[in-house]
Amino acid sequence: MTNANSKRESHFKVNCLVRLLLLLLLSSCFNLARQWDALFLMRVIRYGARLEIYRRTSRVVTVVDRFVQQAQRIPEKAFLIYEGVTYTYGELEERSNRVARVFGDAVKEGDTVALLMSNEPDFLSVWFGFCKLGCAVAFLNTNIRSRSLLHCFRCCGAELLVVGADLLETLEDILPSLQEDGITVWCMTQESPRPGVHSLLDQMEEASQEPVAAERRSVRCLRSPTLYIFTSGTTGLPKAAVITHLQALKAAGGFWVYGATGSDVIYTPLPLYHSAASLVGIGGTIELGATCVLKKKFSASQFWHDCRKHNVTIFQYIGELCRYLCNQPTKDHRVLMGVGNGLRQDVWREFHRRFGDIRMCEIYGSTEGNLCFMNHIGKIGAVGRSNFFYKLIFKYDLVKYDLVREEPVRDHSGFCQHVQKGETGLLLSKICSQSPFFGYAGSKQLTEKKILRDVFVTGDAYFNTGDLMAEDEDDFICFRDRVGDTFRWKGENVATTEVTEILGLVDFIQEASVYGVQVPGNEGRAGMAAVIVRPECTFDGKKLFSHVLRELPSYARPLFIRLQESLEMTSTFKQQKFALVESGFDPCSISQPLFFLDCSEKSYVPLTSSVYDSIVSGQRNV
Ligand SMILES: *[C@@H]1O[C@H](CO)[C@@H](O)[C@H](O)[C@H]1NC(C)=O
Repeated sequence: MTNANSKRESHFKVNCLVRLLLLLLLSSCFNLARQWDALFLMRVIRYGARLEIYRRTSRVVTVVDRFVQQAQRIPEKAFLIYEGVTYTYGELEERSNRVARVFGDAVKEGDTVALLMSNEPDFLSVWFGFCKLGCAVAFLNTNIRSRSLLHCFRCCGAELLVVGADLLETLEDILPSLQEDGITVWCMTQESPRPGVHSLLDQMEEASQEPVAAERRSVRCLRSPTLYIFTSGTTGLPKAAVITHLQALKAAGGFWVYGATGSDVIYTPLPLYHSAASLVGIGGTIELGATCVLKKKFSASQFWHDCRKHNVTIFQYIGELCRYLCNQPTKDHRVLMGVGNGLRQDVWREFHRRFGDIRMCEIYGSTEGNLCFMNHIGKIGAVGRSNFFYKLIFKYDLVKYDLVREEPVRDHSGFCQHVQKGETGLLLSKICSQSPFFGYAGSKQLTEKKILRDVFVTGDAYFNTGDLMAEDEDDFICFRDRVGDTFRWKGENVATTEVTEILGLVDFIQEASVYGVQVPGNEGRAGMAAVIVRPECTFDGKKLFSHVLRELPSYARPLFIRLQESLEMTSTFKQQKFALVESGFDPCSISQPLFFLDCSEKSYVPLTSSVYDSIVSGQRNV
């Protein structure tokens, strides 16, 4: 070791020690009620310290390195349970070795390969296999088709694609374009399904299960990309978020920080091509040496049955998923904790009421973002809690936001302004060496759009989360709205999440989605709600009318109601409002029953063509 190196190392050790001592000292000042906080923070810091060591010693232990270690330590332990079959750590290790053997000569370190597969064990074999060859892997969303898919493919620069046997047909229309681009396509089948497509399963069977040289996967820099994960928007093409080893390792620490151990059984019904399932779920399982029950697709009716059968202790969720679960009968179970995001307060309470004291831990953080909040206490409605230490680690701010111009408010010198405690503001996260933002692959423009510059001083840069949040007196951070999920009517801002929650309180409403529609002759957008009526109930216009009259200010009351059999869901179960907004409220073009808020009748009345005409022509005031 050189002199400079050893000096740096000792300096680092001192540095680390000082930080920990400081932490211990200050944490002893916490009162008992904050014990949870202290414990949680200790874990965050301990995990952070490990990453810091990687950074300084340029020897990174990646998620796949951790997997290899666990496969040596506990080869017989169940790693994955899928459709009733158990796969041990050892088995998955061998299978991924076979993948690495097949492609050992075809790819080199730093190449990117694309993966288009549904949730299945070989998703992991292929992912780990390529990582063992030093490649980055791009997870393609299995719901996107043709032009979008081609776009995804091109922006991550992959030259090789592995496709699941069940998804080959979705490539039909772009196969010629792929082949034109010189991209090799491999399919998870025993035989080549068509000319120009290679089969992988037979090749894997013939390949050796011995590991390839460990040097091939060695990583010297935490900031080299290991994955590309596509994030979807309501409009425009998907964006490829660059996931570095640093982010993958941070996400893998999630369960551990929440206090999970190797004896936990984690239930993952979310798609693996998203960061929640792959980075937090699989990465977290590996970190703990735990077991993951992987579902091909989420099913509300199978959920509790699965949890009982496999003694599940932790499950991953997104908000909508919990809402579906609330319509399921209560069952015995051993579930202790849910980890996820987007749980609304009303659903959260109902979930507790039905299924008992399950700790629901919200994780706030986007795939590409450089900020993360964790609600380790399980306080209803909060995504996390900030405190002195957290602010040391994450430099974030809430600034005043102008909903009309859809941009932050700037003062006379052109800088943003902090909000008061309790006030809602736009969440920004400082981009610095501690919390870097790696942007999107192949598009400087998209990356730049997420960055806000000259925020508090000239030359600074912040990641714009696009989320409106508020911090309360007790430092709990609550999600209020997504920029764009708010519309204006009669000069007032209407938060769709708020109206949705209020509608959800009506006994015959199972589910509602609120949005704004344009009414000719009026500024802004009028409130409209697509509503699913509970199976055993009927729509009651008078009851709904008196409810919204009581609970909502006049500008926020939905003017139009549209009854739906179902609400269209995107792959992440998020409600796809875009199409609803586009289709407006014309009874001639919408086949579902429509209702109109009629103040003279004190009820929601059927929206007939003549009512529609009188609104559009301006005869009837809205
Ligand atoms: C679940 O736990 C029970 C009681 O500890 C045990 O008998 C059973 O074998 C476990 N089931 C599985 C699938 O591990």
